[in-house]
Amino acid sequence: MSDSYSIAVIPGDGTGPEVIREGRKVLQAAAALYGFSLEFNEVDVGGERYLKTGEILPDSVVRELSGAHAIYLGAIGHPEVAPGILEKGILLRLRFELDLYVNLRPVKLYPGVDTPLKGKGPEHIDFVVLRENTEGFYVGSGGFFKKGTPDEMAIQESINTRKGIERLLRYAFETTRARKRKKLTLCGKNNVLTYAWDLWTRAFNEIAAEYPDVTTDYAHVDAICMWMVKNPEWFDVIATDNMFGDIITDLGAMIQGGMGIAAGGNINPSGVSMFEPIGGSAPKYTGKNVINPLACILAGSLLLSGIGKPEAAKSVEDAVIKVLQTDVTSLDAGRMGHSTSEVGDLVAGYLR
Ligand code: IPM
Ligand code: MN
Repeated sequence: MSDSYSIAVIPGDGTGPEVIREGRKVLQAAAALYGFSLEFNEVDVGGERYLKTGEILPDSVVRELSGAHAIYLGAIGHPEVAPGILEKGILLRLRFELDLYVNLRPVKLYPGVDTPLKGKGPEHIDFVVLRENTEGFYVGSGGFFKKGTPDEMAIQESINTRKGIERLLRYAFETTRARKRKKLTLCGKNNVLTYAWDLWTRAFNEIAAEYPDVTTDYAHVDAICMWMVKNPEWFDVIATDNMFGDIITDLGAMIQGGMGIAAGGNINPSGVSMFEPIGGSAPKYTGKNVINPLACILAGSLLLSGIGKPEAAKSVEDAVIKVLQTDVTSLDAGRMGHSTSEVGDLVAGYLR
């Protein structure tokens, strides 16, 4: 039987197609080296299609995506589309419909990359944030009352289910157990949001009893923001809800060197998962062959882990590290010292 995987690809908007091209190049080379094959199927979704046809995410595309082994996403976002339409219609809809309940965000400072944190190096910044990805404020629960009048009000509710919390936390405990330091920090706000975080904290403590080998800890989200800057070495794995996770992972991206290097996964541990660079579609750099593809390539490394190819994933990550140490002069678009496609070639060339 041939060891083959079908990868649905959403190149998307702006520079998405350019970074995806390099990601595909590297993944294809890694697959050849490690003896399996990847079949990429591109799906046309994004701002361009929406502006041309009015379609955001047809059901047929969702079906196609759900039948793949993994989804590789470039970028979604178009300057001529109002904020919220593509985010809700594509990204959030896929998270909900494919039940991608873990948002995995490694925060790792690679050697050769500058962090804005003074006195911190790769030995201080190496943790993972696991964000609940299907609940909280993101479910869109709430509404208006007397909208547009002087008495108007708006309610936006955070939904936290025992099941949703528990499955994210179990994934977090398993992830933590597999790491060297085995330390899991719950990031919440149990001093103020006393309903949601009472439930989270109880679930956390109950599950912790099943993982005596994992050291547990709790910190308020505001305090975590301080410590991620002052003492990032305290963290190994952080588990949190959807909204807090959204906020702290942007901080995480910055301390690891910025959007040029930050990658993430939207994971359904028993289904199809979607991997993406964190940065946006960077419209002003579109088509110039200057955008940094490394975040997308690292998302590809996460994808390889996701389909059960950890050696190939490690090889891609190591090749990126090599490029960071020996080739690129900056992570910024247009200042890498190499074009987008050259960086992809360099990474592919370093695979071992
Ligand atoms: C992210 C993004 C999304 C989010 C937006 C684009 C809806 O910021 O993946 O972190 O808020 O989750
Ligand atoms: Mn975000």
